[in-house]
Amino acid sequence: MQKLTLEKLTSFCKTRGFVYPSSEIYGGLGGIYDYGHYGYLLKENIKNAWIKSMIQDRDDVTLLDSAIFMHPKTWIASGHVDSFDDPMVDCKNCKFRYRADHLLEEFGVEIDDKASIDEINAELDALRHSGTLKCPNCGSKDLTAARRFSLMVKSNLGSTIDQLTNEDVVYLRPETCGGIYLEYKNIVESLHPKFPFGIAQVGKAFRNEIVARQFIYRTREFEQMEMQYFHHPDDTKQKYEEWKQFRWNWYLEYGIPENKLQWYKHEKLAHYATDAYDIKYKFDSLDGFAEVEGIHARGNWDLSQHSKYSGIKLEFFDSDRNEKFIPHIMETSAGLNRLFMMFLDNAYSEQEIVTKDNNGNEKKDIRILLRLDPRLSPIKVAILPLMKKTALVTKAKEVFNHLKKLYICEYDESGSIGKRYRRQDEIGTPYCITIDYQTLEDDSVTIRDRDSMNQERINVNELRGYFTESIF
Ligand code: GAP
Repeated sequence: MQKLTLEKLTSFCKTRGFVYPSSEIYGGLGGIYDYGHYGYLLKENIKNAWIKSMIQDRDDVTLLDSAIFMHPKTWIASGHVDSFDDPMVDCKNCKFRYRADHLLEEFGVEIDDKASIDEINAELDALRHSGTLKCPNCGSKDLTAARRFSLMVKSNLGSTIDQLTNEDVVYLRPETCGGIYLEYKNIVESLHPKFPFGIAQVGKAFRNEIVARQFIYRTREFEQMEMQYFHHPDDTKQKYEEWKQFRWNWYLEYGIPENKLQWYKHEKLAHYATDAYDIKYKFDSLDGFAEVEGIHARGNWDLSQHSKYSGIKLEFFDSDRNEKFIPHIMETSAGLNRLFMMFLDNAYSEQEIVTKDNNGNEKKDIRILLRLDPRLSPIKVAILPLMKKTALVTKAKEVFNHLKKLYICEYDESGSIGKRYRRQDEIGTPYCITIDYQTLEDDSVTIRDRDSMNQERINVNELRGYFTESIF
C-alpha cells in the first residue's frame, strides 16, 4: 500500500461523502468542516460507542446535554477569559500567522504546549540570533515576538433583560465540561447519585485556533466527548489509574492496535490541572503520534471557582465517610472529530488484487477498503441483486426491506457486481448480500466478508441471527 498522506485522506473523505470543507461555493471558511451521509453515520457510531462504554458498561456515570451558551461568569470563574490562549507570531511581510510552539517545531525545537511566553520568546530569540528563524511561507526574517492570542469565540448574545451589560461577553463554549460543573448541583439533587460518580456529555466546542490545520485534526468548531468523575481527594491516585486503563482499553476494543497508541505525560499543566496525560495515536496521515484524548486530574478547582463566583455551595455529603467536601474531578476528554480521523487513518488500506476480464486476461487493480470495526461502519449491510433482472431485483428489494428495519442498509443495483463490492469496501461496509438465481430456487443468499472477500451461502431466514452475532 502507498502511504496514506493527509492529502489522500482529505480527498478520500470528500469524494466518498464523509467530510466536505464548509462553505466551499463561497471559497471556504478556514478550519470548519461539514459531515456528509457516511461521515455523519460514522461520527454517530463513534459517539454511541463512547456513550455505551460510559453508560451501558458502567453504572456510575449519567448523561447531560447542556447548552452551548452559558452565563459570562462561567468562563471568568474557570480562568478561560484570562488565560485560555495560545502564543502567536506574525510575519510582518506576508501577514501569515503562526502558533509559536508549532513554528518552533518546524525548526526542530520541541517545546511544551503550555510553555510560558517568556520561554517561547527565548527559544525564538535563539533561532533569530543564529540566523535560522524565517517565515515558512515567504522566507522573510521579519517576524514579531510571540504574544498571547485568546482562543475564546465571542457572540453578541445577551441584553439588559438578562441583566447583562455591554461589557458582559457571552462566549461559545471552548470545552463541554463547563456545562457539567454548572449542572452539578441540579444533578446531585435530582438523580441522587451514589458517590463517587461521573457525568458525561458529548457536544460542540469552539476555539479561535490561530492556525486551523491538518484537516479535521485541529478545527475551530469541533465536538468533544467529556466525562467528569467526582471523587474524594484520597482516591485520586486510584481513580486516575482506573480511568487511564478504562479509556486505553476502549481504543483496543474498537480495533486500534496497541503499538499505535502511547501515553504522553504533561510536564507543564493547564491552570486547572494537577496531573495530565494524553493518549496519542500514530497517524499515518500526520507522519507520527498526535494527541486524541486528554485525561486530567483537575482537583477541586472547577467546583471551588464556580462556588466562589456564584455564591452557591457546591459540596457533597458522603454518608459513607460522614464528611462534607468539594469533590475532586477526574476528567476524560476526547475529541470526536480527532477520533473520527484516527479511525479512518487506521482503517484505510489499499490492496493489489488480480482480476480476469471476459477473455480470461489478468488485470491488476487496487482495492481500497476501510477495515472499520463493524460497529462503527456507516452501512452495516449492502444488498445487491447479481443482475438487474426483474425477478432478482424483486427478491433483493424484499430482503432489503426486511433488513433495513434492523440495520442501516444500502440497496445497489447499478454497475457490475465487482464495482458494487468495491464501492461498499471503500465506505467500510462489512457485509454484502448477493441475490442470484439460486436464491430464487432455495431462498439462500451469499454473504461476502469485506476483509477476507470470502463468501458463504446461508438461508434468508438465518440472516438476522448471523448479523446480530457479527455486528452487535
Ligand atoms: N476539558 C479539557 C479539554 O478541553 P483539551 O486538551 O483542550 O482539554 C481535549 O481538549 C480534546 O479535545 C483534545 O484531546 C482533542 O481531541 C480535542 N480538541 C481540542 N481542541 C481541538 C480542536 N481545535 N479541533 C479538534 N479537536 C480538538
